[in-house]
Amino acid sequence: MWWLKNVHIIDPRQELAGVRDVLVADGKILEIALSYTEEEVAAKSSGEEVKTVEGKGRYLFPGLIDVHTHLREPGQEDKEDILSGSRAAVRGGFTSILAMANTSPVIDQRALVEFVLNQGQRAGLARVYPVGAVSKGMKGEELVEMVELAEGGAAAFSDDGKGIQNAELMRLALEYVKLTKRLIISHCEDSNLQNKGFMHKGEASARLGLRGIPSTAETVMLARDLLLAAETGGRLHVAHVSTREGVDMIREAKTRGVDVSAEVNPHHLIFTDEEITLTNTSLKVNPPLRSRADREALIEGLADGTIDMLATDHAPHTWEEKARPFAEAPFGITGLETALAAVWQHLVKPGKLTPERMIEAWSTLPAHRFGLPGGSLQPGQAADMVLFDPELKEMIKAEDLRSKAQNTPFLGQELQGFAVMTWVEGKLVFSR
Ligand code: DOR
Ligand code: ZN
Repeated sequence: MWWLKNVHIIDPRQELAGVRDVLVADGKILEIALSYTEEEVAAKSSGEEVKTVEGKGRYLFPGLIDVHTHLREPGQEDKEDILSGSRAAVRGGFTSILAMANTSPVIDQRALVEFVLNQGQRAGLARVYPVGAVSKGMKGEELVEMVELAEGGAAAFSDDGKGIQNAELMRLALEYVKLTKRLIISHCEDSNLQNKGFMHKGEASARLGLRGIPSTAETVMLARDLLLAAETGGRLHVAHVSTREGVDMIREAKTRGVDVSAEVNPHHLIFTDEEITLTNTSLKVNPPLRSRADREALIEGLADGTIDMLATDHAPHTWEEKARPFAEAPFGITGLETALAAVWQHLVKPGKLTPERMIEAWSTLPAHRFGLPGGSLQPGQAADMVLFDPELKEMIKAEDLRSKAQNTPFLGQELQGFAVMTWVEGKLVFSR
């Protein structure tokens, strides 16, 4: 049994924000109270050993749920594998992660879904949920057998990494996904408008002489997907919104009752295209870092709930790949181990986002929207939780990262606010 004393609980699900004691037994939250005496705890422990944690000055959050990670297994284990990605997750405060389907081979068959699920269970750290592809081989031509994949454990469907260029295929996907009670996660990117660009199309790309990716590469497909979601009634989740216009379109669609949710990545809330230099490929990401006006609109959209969720888009790549010239380096930023600190330092501390809204966006709503366990510290719930030290400062160093990859723009920078202990189903899976 665990006895967490004097922790500042933030749990929007039960509208709880305050200092409490928490008891955890048999993998579940047993009780929450203002405080307990040694005798009371001993009586409730029924002889089991009691592990006590003094939590003064620390927060207890429901474990973070990341609906967008790339774990690269099967096929690209030099970048990451399910074990290293799971280690990175729990170190970052994540108790559940959705693993994207753009592996090699693509997760487009039930056996592959089961493989990812099994590897996640073997790692025994975070809960790993496979995302199935929408189209076979992510070729954008033929739908996967969605019902079979869902039966095998696919938590959602996405061709993330690529936009689905064929509107009729997307319409069918939104139609068929209704049979599975899952979501289609859309990576909105029109590949013709993307035009083999390397960064946001604007003043900065012109200055650097790099081919730009216009905002419309995102918004043209987003407009289509919102219309198709409205027509079919299929559940849509928009990955990594990066544009001001995109935020406005989602806000408007929600007022019309479209069944849509959306996520934003920490890097789009913190950086802009102005920070990009030809030698810093750690800022090369897709969708690209955009303008200041876009960033401000994303922050506002996240704060007011238009953008429901935070998600990392953890996209590990090898050092060698990211050391290539800007135009040749792959797109992607790792996030699992820095995301919480980055959001805390850059958004919560300056008062742009409340801690309650952060947890709602990174735990409560992901659990609710994707139908996953966790997302709350209510008694009786699985004890997926994270003890967070808001004062802890740490320099981000390559050798400390549990991910195999180091492609983070925070390398060599100090961040504040880190997970210090993480539990999944009452089992301590990380301690700093
Ligand atoms: O930057 C990105 N990296 N964006 C994507 O959509 C895919 C991802 C990856 O798989 O590396
Ligand atoms: Zn994507």
